[in-house]
Amino acid sequence: METKEISQAVIGRLPRYLRYLGDLKDDGVERVSSQELSELMNVTASQIRQDFNNFGGFGQQGYGYNVEYLYEEISKILGLDHRHNFIIIGAGNLGRALGNYLNFERRGFIFKGMFDKNPKLVGDDVRGVKVMSIDGLEEFLQENDIDIAVLTIPKTSAVDIVNVLVDNGIRAIWNFAHVDLNVPEGILVENVHLSDSLMKLSYNINCKEQRSE
Ligand code: NAI
Repeated sequence: METKEISQAVIGRLPRYLRYLGDLKDDGVERVSSQELSELMNVTASQIRQDFNNFGGFGQQGYGYNVEYLYEEISKILGLDHRHNFIIIGAGNLGRALGNYLNFERRGFIFKGMFDKNPKLVGDDVRGVKVMSIDGLEEFLQENDIDIAVLTIPKTSAVDIVNVLVDNGIRAIWNFAHVDLNVPEGILVENVHLSDSLMKLSYNINCKEQRSE
């Protein structure tokens, strides 16, 4: 399947398709038309068809999509048919919330380790994973096959730790620290800023209030 040069906007919509298809699958639905999916997801059927055409279409016109097949294909496109081991750096509020989230495993993301610089937190149990001292990070990375590091530490700490991660085999960083990280070519960084989403909400509240004035 040709997956080159697919826009990030399309890739960004795939997880949402996957969530809805997962629910349909759980409800025992076998086929779904683009029209039905469109009504469920509140996007146009033509948007859905356009998105899926990037990957060859997935289904027969008029006959609808096979839910199980579509779910599996989108999972493969998103790389979810592979396991990805991840560690979390920063065992504070956010790090623990993420560590405690069970659904990552369902998607093939396996929680393997958690690190903190605060000795008082070392040894704490977060869903079966013991918090380790940050001093042991390099050795741990050398001995374990970890793809992804999740950064839930302040921004100065995040900047300082990037080289250690990259030099020891980390290929991707899920960055919650409020800083743009400089990484060598080939290392992937996905920034997540919850407040961006909140600011978008604030903008939309303001627009709505102005319209009703
Ligand atoms: P927290 O203070 O509860 O936890 C931070 C933890 O990081 C502490 O346990 C601290 O000991 C540890 N730490 C600091 N430097 C370290 C280092 N060099 N190595 C290992 N551990 C280190 O803070 P919280 O609420 O968990 O937030 C963590 C960070 O994430 C904060 O900097 C915050 O600004 C950011 N944040 C980002 C969000 C986002 O949407 N991107 C949302 C909430 C917080």
